[in-house]
Amino acid sequence: MIRMFSYVGSAAGSTSHTKELSDRLAAALAELLRERGEDLSYECLTADRLQVSLCRSCNSCFGTGSCPLDATDDVGELKQRLLEADIVLVGTPVYLAQMSGATKCVLDRIAFWAHRLELAGKAGMALVTTSNNHGPQVERQLRELLQCFGLAMPEGLCLQLHASPRLDLPEEADPAIAAAAARLLTAWEHPAAHVTKWQELLWRELALQTRRRMMRHYVLGEEVPEETRVLDERRIATYDSLAAYLRFLRGLDG
Ligand SMILES: Cc1cc2nc3c(=O)[nH]c(=O)nc-3n(C[C@H](O)[C@H](O)[C@H](O)COP(=O)(O)O)c2cc1C
Repeated sequence: MIRMFSYVGSAAGSTSHTKELSDRLAAALAELLRERGEDLSYECLTADRLQVSLCRSCNSCFGTGSCPLDATDDVGELKQRLLEADIVLVGTPVYLAQMSGATKCVLDRIAFWAHRLELAGKAGMALVTTSNNHGPQVERQLRELLQCFGLAMPEGLCLQLHASPRLDLPEEADPAIAAAAARLLTAWEHPAAHVTKWQELLWRELALQTRRRMMRHYVLGEEVPEETRVLDERRIATYDSLAAYLRFLRGLDG
């Protein structure tokens, strides 16, 4: 059973174009998996179903790995769903040439995951709907932000709707949706092949920092920050690249 979780940063709920795109991608992926005798579990949450407070810049998450706001809103639960999933979708409508505030607000709350590649080993995809413009730019930006968490991210899916009626994504979208489902499945099966150059740079930076901090801990007795402890436990510094680490996670090494 492959578990896919989707967060859609639109408060249009069941009438959201972006949610419909997510649902149709899930149906296309389920079809591909059925042909291989595998099942897909899928859940999608839209912004209207979640209470998400604005990040208060207290920086606790970077220092301790936990956010005090999680106890007061739904982000703790949202994080749990993201961590339990094998495949993560993040969808956004284009609002004023950018991703929606609801989408960015959630990303801000999990920004510290970029310091620990928290989602490495999973595949992800950015989904975008727009009436007329800025879809490809927003898809690329969202994809690059999600790559910071270590996700294997093939090119995402962006639909320009030309103000089509709600809940009526054009049928011409079917081939693009089927192709995106195939890309996503390949990324899930071969995450190491999807690592980008700049994900490797991020990886190298974190590995170097981990080695340096652990050395100072052993030699000088310096305290180890939470994010370094996590990376050390995950053996980040023992691999030369993110691709090598992903192969290790999938049991192709050691
Ligand atoms: C506040 C707001 C701003 C928008 N800004 C843009 C825009 O800059 N460019 C564009 O092409 N469409 C824009 N749209 C249209 C939405 O991107 C489009 O309708 C999208 O499919 C809505 O997705 P949803 O149904 O999932 O919320 C905007 C819509 C809203 C409500």
